[in-house]
Amino acid sequence: MLLSRAARVERPAALALTRAFSTGRVHGGLKDEDRIFTNLYCDGSPFLDGAMKRGDWYRTKDLVQLGPERIIGEIKRSGLRGRGGAGFPSGLKWSFMPKNNTDKPQYLVVNADESEPGTCKDREIMRHDPHKLIEGCLVAGSAMRANAAYIYIRGEFVYEAAVLERAVAEAYKAGLLGKNACGSGIDFDVHVHRGGGAYICGEETGLIESLEGKTGKPRLKPPFPANAGLYGCPTTVTNVETVAVSPTILRRGGDWFASFGRKNNSGTKLFCISGHVNNPITVEEEMSIPLRELLEKHCGGVRGGWDNLLAVIPGGSSVPVMTKAVCDDVLMDFDALKEVGSGLGTAAVTVFDKSTDIVAAIGRLSKFYAHESCGQCTPCREGTTWMNKIMDRMVTGDAKLEEIDMLYEISQQIEGHTICALGDAAAWPVQGLIRAFRPEMEARIMKKAAGKL
Ligand SMILES: Cc1cc2nc3c(=O)[nH]c(=O)nc-3n(C[C@H](O)[C@H](O)[C@H](O)COP(=O)(O)O)c2cc1C
Ligand code: SF4
Repeated sequence: MLLSRAARVERPAALALTRAFSTGRVHGGLKDEDRIFTNLYCDGSPFLDGAMKRGDWYRTKDLVQLGPERIIGEIKRSGLRGRGGAGFPSGLKWSFMPKNNTDKPQYLVVNADESEPGTCKDREIMRHDPHKLIEGCLVAGSAMRANAAYIYIRGEFVYEAAVLERAVAEAYKAGLLGKNACGSGIDFDVHVHRGGGAYICGEETGLIESLEGKTGKPRLKPPFPANAGLYGCPTTVTNVETVAVSPTILRRGGDWFASFGRKNNSGTKLFCISGHVNNPITVEEEMSIPLRELLEKHCGGVRGGWDNLLAVIPGGSSVPVMTKAVCDDVLMDFDALKEVGSGLGTAAVTVFDKSTDIVAAIGRLSKFYAHESCGQCTPCREGTTWMNKIMDRMVTGDAKLEEIDMLYEISQQIEGHTICALGDAAAWPVQGLIRAFRPEMEARIMKKAAGKL
């Protein structure tokens, strides 16, 4: 009982907070001149000629020669938070790399695994704007005192890997990478590595294991990758979008980037919107844009109109689902979505209209997480399977009413009790469903028991 009551009390309070925030400046309506990803829809060539016309690789030598302290200082000033899901401040993260290490090489590892259901933003960068990422590798990598970057790309992205490899080869040929990259005095290599084809290989230490040629099983932390990462050397694993925006931030200034979005939620952001909208799209917008405006302006609105909206998952499959009442005025940023009990995650927005069987939709996600658990931790290995089995019964109405609480309790025993965050990612969608749609779950069970289903 604790579950539903707590949830019903929490949500209105959280909503009130979000409304209070949204009374200030309205965010959104990003102008073309403020877009970082100017070839998102492949209007021009993704390759070097097109990239240079768009301003990539312009005086990159000067950016690199700013040196690690000034680059990291500017990234901190920009307020950039990691675009891989957790939203950790990027400048701070990059500063964890050792400064006086002369024993071992240091590495930048770009996380291009992008396997979270609904998320399809890094793919657009890699196939349409690969030089933004490659230039970002040099700039961010030099700030981390690394001399090599590995781009770990999802195995299924065959076309994107081919585009990236061609773009990397062009960059070497033009002297932008390799010895004395861009004439900066720094040697810098970029390697493209195709992934093993498992969602868990996107978790940073699972990724490192996979890159080393092993099964992608996450490592216990500490030690953190900045101390002992790839081949035991200092490593920073960071998302494609995070790396790709860094040259533009340095060119236009941290203050420029920080001028978008609410405090602590700054910048422009790629949102990938799928599901029941008229025009699914990946679009760059200002952080803190109201969800409703994002959908109506860029996606032609919800199929059948706003009142036909049932729910939205705002940040990739792992974040809790929000009801229409929450969607009505929530802002799309880290803090606003956290306040309403969900999260920005990867900014992959999945829209469900009223035709959706929301119990079945979340049940399908449970199956995904049970399938993708690497099996190292008992709560995750066993718990995700239990949740999946109970969810299957919830979908058909064959569960018992008390199993709703049992399901929530299992999710809580997984959350926070595992080596990596896949356990949390499996728990949150189920928790979100119970908080937001408990009456629907109960009604289905009772209907089945009454022989009406
Ligand atoms: C199961 C799992 C899968 C993940 N998959 C990805 C992914 O595909 N891409 C990504 O950038 N981060 C992914 N992450 C997050 C990474 O562990 C890491 O936090 C991120 O790459 C850091 O990048 P950032 O600092 O730029 O946000 C995943 C995390 C978990 C737990
Ligand atoms: S939480 Fe799950 S996926 Fe992560 S290490 Fe443990 S068993 Fe593997």
